[in-house]
Amino acid sequence: MHPNYKKLQELNKQAELGGGQKRIDRQHESGKLTARERIDLLLDPGTFVELDKFVTHRCSDFNMESQRIPGDGVVTGYGQVDGRLVYVFAQDFTVFGGSLSGAFAQKICKVMDLAMKVGAPVIGLNDSGGARIQEGVVSLAGYADIFYRNTRASGVIPQISAILGPCAGGAVYSPAITDFIFMVQDTSYMFITGPDVVKTVTSQDVTKQELGGSHVHGETSGVSHFDCVSEEECIVQIRELLSFVPSNNAEDAPYLPTGDDPMRRDAKLAEIIPEKPSKPYDMTEVINCVVDDGYFFEVQKDFAKNIIVGFARLDGHSVGIVANQPDHLSGVLDINASLKAARFVRFCDAFNIPIITLVDVPGFLPGVDQEYGGIIKHGAKLLYAYAEATVPKITLITRKAYGGAYDVMSSKHIGGDINLAYPTAEIAVMGPDGAVNIIFRNDLVAADDQDAKKAELVENYRDTFANPFKAAELGYIDEVIEPLDTRPRLIQSLHMLKNKRAENPPKKHGNIPL
Ligand code: COA
Repeated sequence: MHPNYKKLQELNKQAELGGGQKRIDRQHESGKLTARERIDLLLDPGTFVELDKFVTHRCSDFNMESQRIPGDGVVTGYGQVDGRLVYVFAQDFTVFGGSLSGAFAQKICKVMDLAMKVGAPVIGLNDSGGARIQEGVVSLAGYADIFYRNTRASGVIPQISAILGPCAGGAVYSPAITDFIFMVQDTSYMFITGPDVVKTVTSQDVTKQELGGSHVHGETSGVSHFDCVSEEECIVQIRELLSFVPSNNAEDAPYLPTGDDPMRRDAKLAEIIPEKPSKPYDMTEVINCVVDDGYFFEVQKDFAKNIIVGFARLDGHSVGIVANQPDHLSGVLDINASLKAARFVRFCDAFNIPIITLVDVPGFLPGVDQEYGGIIKHGAKLLYAYAEATVPKITLITRKAYGGAYDVMSSKHIGGDINLAYPTAEIAVMGPDGAVNIIFRNDLVAADDQDAKKAELVENYRDTFANPFKAAELGYIDEVIEPLDTRPRLIQSLHMLKNKRAENPPKKHGNIPL
């Protein structure tokens, strides 16, 4: 046998052992899988094809020439998820702490370039100590090469990041540009500067998890989209997400019929929404009643709970759902809800996924914090995202649609293709109480019995404005439907809009208020 066959075997073995058995054991002891184990879980069995397995770093400073490991700390290649092509890179913490060298970055760039050429998603499994300190600016250049590709690929191919260990400093910006970030409880964290720097600069004591753990980014910052209990769950969720999205911006999402009758009429829907307009209810119940098999794949579940976003299927077709949640802050639109929904709408639009909007919104959240925080520009993002989206847009007003928030939530006026409302919907500039206080201030002051007068005026206002019929008379609502008919009507609308073609005016890019 030619000696090179033996050399090939040796190199393969060396590459597969990464930083060595001791470090692999340490990785397991800290509750983490290795890069190769993660890839095995992610891809359909036997489909992984590795590239650049023998690439090594080219650094000779700090005695690095004596420490070369084939693969250099990142496993890259391609394979399949449910039979569909995906590209993957998995950072190997056992090799120099998964830190990024010039060669490491080139490996990632190579799979990103291939993914762009053929139009397939890239999934990055991150577990890294950041820039390879021994390589200095070469490592920083490597990061920038990746960021540049992330940005160019944005809106062309889906990009998914899983954070499965440390992700700090500049390393956070590649995941931040990708479409979805998954984190794992207890073992992963993301921050720009770690606890030591925070302590030095602000004198604040904070742990890594308190600063950038999965709960922080899932609930408070909104940086991540999925907060998973284990790596196994994280990987199952990534596969699930992929089932709702196309491989690139020129394709449609996979069609997965379920056998759920498209004409199914669910009587429960009429009972979910309370008669009293101020009484909360759970909008996810409405969603579950309507979508195929009651299966809703929620995104950013714990962040800005006053709005719900996620994927589902209607008659087998993937749709993005955006819905106000009356069960949380009355479903009001605030800064975080606007950001969350705007980004989701833009993802759906970029990847040809029709948007279903369920509206029950009392308006924008009043408050000094909101105004100082820029609710004007953040609310404008959601408005802009809807107005710019050219995918089919179907809107259903289940109850309140007040003020500017009526306009923002995919109204007819900003390009809603089909706008529906329940008979109990209230479409008005504001709620009856507030409206009466303003327009009948003098009558109220003059009244002998102010409470009785107010009740009469509120009732009168409700009869005049707080219903969907005025909007239906004007054609702003295409049809007032009974709750029972929600699923059939959404599906009929979706089918009717299947061949929708719409384009925005030619431009370099818009100037969304950032
Ligand atoms: N460059 C080069 N090597 C690195 C590295 C980096 N950025 N980060 C970690 N390593 C190496 C360590 O030297 C160690 O090597 P060894 O196995 O030969 O001893 C190995 O990776 C594991 O690191 P260790 O510190 O033992 O792991 P830990 O789990 O205790 O801590 C970190 C992990 C990421 C918190 C810690 O390694 C760290 O702070 N790294 C530097 C982070 C940083 O500032 N990066 C630059 C900014 S982008």
